[in-house]
Amino acid sequence: MSKDLQKLHNESLVHIATALDLAQLEAVELSLFSRQNGRLTMLMKEIATVLPAEKKAYGESCNTVKEELIGSIAKRREELTNVRWKTIANDERIDPSAPLGTSSSSMTRAQKKNYGSLHPISRVQYDLEDLFTSMGFMVLDGPELESDYYNFEALNIPADHPARDMHDTFYLKNNPSWVMRTHTSPVQVRAMEKYGAPLRAIVPGRCFRNEATDPRHEHTLYQLEGLVIDRGINFAHLKGIIATVAKHLYGGETKVRFLPKFYPFVEPGVRGEVTCFLCHGTGCRVCKNTGWLEIFGAGMMHPNVLRAGKIDPEKYSGLAFGLGLSRLVMLKYAIPDARYALGGDLRFLNQF
Ligand code: PHE
Repeated sequence: MSKDLQKLHNESLVHIATALDLAQLEAVELSLFSRQNGRLTMLMKEIATVLPAEKKAYGESCNTVKEELIGSIAKRREELTNVRWKTIANDERIDPSAPLGTSSSSMTRAQKKNYGSLHPISRVQYDLEDLFTSMGFMVLDGPELESDYYNFEALNIPADHPARDMHDTFYLKNNPSWVMRTHTSPVQVRAMEKYGAPLRAIVPGRCFRNEATDPRHEHTLYQLEGLVIDRGINFAHLKGIIATVAKHLYGGETKVRFLPKFYPFVEPGVRGEVTCFLCHGTGCRVCKNTGWLEIFGAGMMHPNVLRAGKIDPEKYSGLAFGLGLSRLVMLKYAIPDARYALGGDLRFLNQF
């Protein structure tokens, strides 16, 4: 047998045995037997150049090699075919109707996954963030541990002002110039300092009050602050925004009313009520028979507050409002006790 033929024989046996699938095996087969340039085909064509006395032996050894290779290819093809069936039978069977996350090989019944859900406060918060961003508002954040300056002083509430009594404040024990913020309003001033005017922003966030808790009071609550500062902003803009929010939350029929209320950082100041979403104004247990629900405080920003934010009140005016987010949620889902919202009780949370 010629050296070339021997080499081809040995190499080919290795290639055939190590072909990992039918496609690889076919490639090996083609590289040997292709009519134009198969390695064995070429060697067989060389018979023309072999000496007449050796032609017979050369032809015979070529044929022997050819048959052996054809035989081992057939054998390997059978092996690979069986392997493939085995794999599919055992591991790769796919049930396209099985729900995601179930193992297809074990073919067990679908297991129910225990997905969490959004907390009702997050739900209402995200919903309002969408509404406000669609009206061109930024969504801002601020620190929960706040300086006395931003929480009170910059909001036109000096140290000896009786308005401080409106807030039951947690002061830091070792440093009473720091407080757990009692409302989201301190971010009004932080936002003005950072972005200047004109400005449109909301600030959803957690606030803290030193309350003895009961079904209507909780020491930790969520508010959603909002402010708009520009040239010529007036009370009608405030009414428009609040009406849009109220209708969005409680339906197109909802009416809003404003009653005078004092907050040191607005002038004039109001507390805002909406018609009760349950009885639509006729009176029921949710609204304690008044037909109205108080859901926010608001007003035109006090010039001193604009000044604290380095904005000239001669040029710009602003409106501000603070929605009681926790309260909105309690009302929306008729939650009877303020303490449920953050109590972490799964019997409550699983209902959402
Ligand atoms: N910060 C006030 C509160 O916590 C609400 C408010 C915000 C009132 C903005 C007026 C303007 O009660």
